[in-house]
Amino acid sequence: MTVTAEIHGGAISGELFRQMAYNEKMAELGRISAGVVHELNAPLSVISSASQMILRESDLPEFVREMVARINSEALRLSQLTRGLLSFSSHDDSGGESDVNLTIAFVLDFVGFEAAQRGVTVSRRLDYRLPLVAVNGNALKQMLLNIVMNALQAMADASGTVLVESSATPEGRIRIAISDSGPGMAPATVSKIFEPYFTTKTGEGGTGLGLFVTRTLAEQYGGSIDVVSRPGEGACFSITFDAAE
Ligand SMILES: Nc1ncnc2c1ncn2[C@@H]1O[C@H](COP(=O)(O)OP(=O)(O)OP(=O)(O)O)[C@@H](O)[C@H]1O
Ligand SMILES: [Mg+2]
Repeated sequence: MTVTAEIHGGAISGELFRQMAYNEKMAELGRISAGVVHELNAPLSVISSASQMILRESDLPEFVREMVARINSEALRLSQLTRGLLSFSSHDDSGGESDVNLTIAFVLDFVGFEAAQRGVTVSRRLDYRLPLVAVNGNALKQMLLNIVMNALQAMADASGTVLVESSATPEGRIRIAISDSGPGMAPATVSKIFEPYFTTKTGEGGTGLGLFVTRTLAEQYGGSIDVVSRPGEGACFSITFDAAE
């Protein structure tokens, strides 16, 4: 760290500092939510086992059976989500490989509620023959989450769509593309979105660090990030990585 700062001079060390501050904020958030999520597990398992006991009763009216089965399956869905959250917030090292399709599925499950609330339809078109990429799983989740959340936040009306695609490029690299039907961006905006602290979400709690961190992470793993957008025509962000050896 000190060496990098000395080699590149003050500008980079300022960026590094900001990134560290942001990572620290994310880690803090992770620690807090891990505690909350952990506490959710006990009541969830009570709901689930109680509803299973009710379902074992023989003379239940059909509508009660249906309602209780529904409670049971929703409780199961919640406990799967909390398990996912716990593994997301657990701190692992920076190494590793990930399956892009599994990571996409995780992130889309994670934002499902947020999307539904906004009336946004999220769909996926995945190539299931892709090899693993040499990117840490949590880093990939963070990158995708930042881009997908931006897409959801960009969509004001309730008829928006987000499409997430995975594919192999002609050069054999792995590409994940996230397109939205939102308002898009003017060229002057596009040229600034990867700068730290650039945000148009003042008053909505935007830090302007999401895409900066996403690009930094992508490059850290030898990847690249691109965006194509025009006003009124939505935006398409894509990140590309080498396949794992
Ligand atoms: N899909 C998109 N459609 C339209 N504009 C976008 C999209 N994604 C990003 N932007 C623009 O890029 C800016 C920077 O995004 P970035 O994720 O870095 O910060 P932010 O979303 O404003 O803040 P934070 O990520 O901390 O919530 C946004 O404020 C927005 O103006
Ligand atoms: Mg953002």
